[in-house]
Amino acid sequence: MNILLLGSGGRESAFAWKITQSPKCEKLFIAPGNAGTPKYGTNVDIKTTNFEGLKAFSLNNGIDLVLVGPEEPLVKGIHDFFLADEQLKHIPVVGPQAEGAQLEGSKDFSKAFMQRHHIPAADSQTFTRETLQDGLEYLETAGLPIVLKADGLAAGKGVLICTTLQEAQYELTEMLENAKFGDASAKVVIEQFLEGIELSVFVMTDGKNYKILPEAKDYKRIGEADTGLNTGGMGSVSPVPFADKVFLKKVEERVIIPTVEGLRKENIPYKGFIFIGLMNCNGEPFVIEYNCRMGDPETESVMPRIASDFVDLLIGVAEGNLDTKTLEISDKVAATVMIVSGGYPGEYLKNKVITGTENIRDSIVFHAGTSFDGDEVINTGGRVLAVTTLQENLFDALQQATADASRIYFDGMYFRRDIGFDLL
Ligand code: AMP
Ligand code: GLY
Repeated sequence: MNILLLGSGGRESAFAWKITQSPKCEKLFIAPGNAGTPKYGTNVDIKTTNFEGLKAFSLNNGIDLVLVGPEEPLVKGIHDFFLADEQLKHIPVVGPQAEGAQLEGSKDFSKAFMQRHHIPAADSQTFTRETLQDGLEYLETAGLPIVLKADGLAAGKGVLICTTLQEAQYELTEMLENAKFGDASAKVVIEQFLEGIELSVFVMTDGKNYKILPEAKDYKRIGEADTGLNTGGMGSVSPVPFADKVFLKKVEERVIIPTVEGLRKENIPYKGFIFIGLMNCNGEPFVIEYNCRMGDPETESVMPRIASDFVDLLIGVAEGNLDTKTLEISDKVAATVMIVSGGYPGEYLKNKVITGTENIRDSIVFHAGTSFDGDEVINTGGRVLAVTTLQENLFDALQQATADASRIYFDGMYFRRDIGFDLL
């Protein structure tokens, strides 16, 4: 079959790498892709939100399945667009329709969903500009630290953890009255702070059946020992040592089953991935957030651990027979180190020539923010390359990924040398 993959990051590189290993994939197209994805398929210069452009391309190239990487086209309704179009509706899209994508697109929606289905999560209340005064009063009794979350998509920046009442009241006002995150902060969820250790669990569902993919832990801060500004993610590991069988069973029973069942009971169609961000609080799982897609850089560690045919699983999601498909997971350990541009997550240095990727033997180099400049590869995004390795044990994986990251060079590059070492 011919597959169209939407996106341009490390996550999509990892999807593309895995998809091309399947005998079921004839041609793979990546829109728009990056300087690494031509290794796996054909880049197509169309934006993920240019639905008309994607329609014309799909019809002209006999596309049989669309896999959506990022959240933006899902929240904007790409799946609904395909279903509503006479010429496109036979082409399955993996990724939920806009309604299901609200699990990520609206924190207020996802909190209410969790409450309706008794899914463990931090206590919360939602406020708007009209109820700002109530929100300021609520903060006085809410305890510290306290978490403020912009309701809508805010490019990963919409969550503030405030340690003083003054800060919390100032930020709530900024968000609601002064549109700190634009429309995304027209509503703000105020949420209790959860103490614990984070991890991510990924589910593939056809709306009825589900498969649990390998779990992963990502490292969000720019600095070593988890210091400094938040980023999109600086590295990941899978499996997660503290997510033992007992914990994962609780996650399945208390979170995954009620989530899939809840969507079904509420007649919210959902074919795609559910990324569940969890806090492990003394062995008890609490949901921090849902995303309607896979994580980045978690996907880079998750894909290499899937031993079975990934395209067959995508077909199961599309056809609604995921229960008949096999998911085999490797016992090996995957580690990913993200190489970023100098200055990231602030203003960063761009257009620097990248060298050394050809010397890497024992890791996979997934491109993220890269482009071609003639024959050379340059950095054009904040997160540039994901170096992923699969080894027998965690220590070897961490060492190999870090060593291989240091074999790559471009002006200003940076990566964390401590990814995963806290788990040893
Ligand atoms: P999110 O954008 O929802 O992923 O939140 C960003 C980060 O904020 C999460 O990865 C957590 O580290 C942190 N966070 C979110 N909600 C909470 C919470 N209720 N308690 C503690 N930390 C939180
Ligand atoms: N790594 C976190 C995310 O993809 O949202």
